[in-house]
Amino acid sequence: MPTFLYDDWTSCHTRNWRRWLADLVDRPVIGVEVGALEGRSSVWFLENVLNHPGSRLYCIDPWGGSCYSGEWRGDVEGRFDSNIAPYRNRVIKLKAQSFSILPRLICDKLRVDFCYVDGLHEGWAVLMDALDCWRLLRPGGCMFLDDYKWIGPKGTISPGPAMDALKLILPHDPERFDFAEDQMCFFKPKE
Ligand SMILES: C[S@@+](CC[C@H](N)C(=O)[O-])C[C@H]1O[C@@H](n2cnc3c(N)ncnc32)[C@H](O)[C@@H]1O
Repeated sequence: MPTFLYDDWTSCHTRNWRRWLADLVDRPVIGVEVGALEGRSSVWFLENVLNHPGSRLYCIDPWGGSCYSGEWRGDVEGRFDSNIAPYRNRVIKLKAQSFSILPRLICDKLRVDFCYVDGLHEGWAVLMDALDCWRLLRPGGCMFLDDYKWIGPKGTISPGPAMDALKLILPHDPERFDFAEDQMCFFKPKE
């Protein structure tokens, strides 16, 4: 049985994720998750989208002890490891800051089918992660970001303005754009 000590930030999104990721089920798919914490959303993606044995989920997190909630509950990385253990051969665990690892994946010419941006929740960081993820995304792929309305500690800028900026500047498919349950989803136009 998986062990989760944080609130469930996954269940309220799964109806939307099923819609956004419907085309990817039963196919060899590559996904990127920025911010994996104890693996609750990772497990959902692995069970419901990346079910093909050829699929891979890149889970990027420093597991460095500063969750955006300000609390770090026990051995978070250890819980991630044991929660994703049944799917270990479909997970590429990258223990690092997204800012250092995403540019390397771009240099390696990785192409991915979807990205979930749920890492550091400050506007500048959300923008950086999203721009890097967008470069990794194949045409037709989708990128979704969490916590539009989240308000951080005093003096920090929340993800909302970053998402508004992305809506203005990303060359996305406006027909498929979605904003639901505090998450924005952008589809890269097909070539
Ligand atoms: C909201 S939690 C992720 C929750 C998870 N996606 C879920 O729904 O179960 C945010 C995570 O982002 C991670 N994080 C913070 N800064 C990061 C960075 N620069 N790169 C990648 N992850 C980061 C934190 O360690 C934390 O685990």
